[in-house]
Amino acid sequence: MKKRALERRAETSETPWAIEIKGLTKRFLGRGGDHTALSDVSFAVGRGRTLAIVGESGAGKTTLIRCVAGLERPSSGQVLVNGRELQLRHGRTGHVQMVFQNPRDALDPMRGIGSSVGEPLRKWSRAERRKRVTTLLSLVGIDPRRAGRRPNEFSGGQLQRIVIARALAPSPSVLLCDEPTSALDVSVQAQILNLLLSVQEQERFAGIVVTHDLAVARTLAEDVLFLRAGRVLFHGSFEQLVDPATELDPYVSGLVRTARESELPVGSVEAGGFRPASDDGAWQEVAS
Ligand SMILES: Nc1ncnc2c1ncn2[C@@H]1O[C@H](COP(=O)(O)OP(=O)(O)O)[C@@H](O)[C@H]1O
Ligand SMILES: [Mg+2]
Repeated sequence: MKKRALERRAETSETPWAIEIKGLTKRFLGRGGDHTALSDVSFAVGRGRTLAIVGESGAGKTTLIRCVAGLERPSSGQVLVNGRELQLRHGRTGHVQMVFQNPRDALDPMRGIGSSVGEPLRKWSRAERRKRVTTLLSLVGIDPRRAGRRPNEFSGGQLQRIVIARALAPSPSVLLCDEPTSALDVSVQAQILNLLLSVQEQERFAGIVVTHDLAVARTLAEDVLFLRAGRVLFHGSFEQLVDPATELDPYVSGLVRTARESELPVGSVEAGGFRPASDDGAWQEVAS
């Protein structure tokens, strides 16, 4: 079959997955020889759903997310976005966007925040870009009239909202979040989690969230993948995690037990004061 025909086929309903990872392995060459950071990792996420990737430091989470973002080349295996193999490129693709851990590092301090939000829309006309930036800022609860202000005039929570607005600008199929709340004050973490849930309901992207916090994972995701030393120890729904059909890996069951003992919230978080922009486009900004 010609490549075109293959691509067309991939765009039809035969590919339900926004993102599919098949047998991903990543080796790094070091002085002490090869180091396998990821070993035969496979999963898929459909539109409107979220997978949480949980693991301790050094597990391979960042390497995995960088491979999905097209910033790192896998040693073997495939990354398919909407059924098409991801092309490795410098910078980000429109289809896969990323929300970083620390919003202060993610924004240009010398630029107005509106200009940063519109940055992925370089090919759009000025007027269209302006309109889209206004919509996006309203969507995340930031007053669009402050688009010309620089990052230092905003709180950490507001900056993470702005980073989320920028990631949503090109209407991505996949949104990657690397510890999206761990750099924020506890008081605003719930607001950002709620924001991610509400924008996903509207924008229907597939989410992948990296976190070491099972409560965050449970809040944002339906499915969870435990990674340790580059290997998948568990991959399934939270229902399967709490009521497993086969015996869990001892490391995974230990984490689940600890989470239960510390009574981590399971389910939705408190509304935390965030109100999404109303239908008539009026914005309601949050203070923190
Ligand atoms: N560029 C690199 N070169 C060599 N080794 C690397 C590189 N990036 C990551 N690693 C190694 O791969 C493993 C996984 O790292 P990483 O993906 O950062 O884990 P995590 O994000 O879960 O903490 C670690 O042992 C780390 O030292
Ligand atoms: Mg990491």
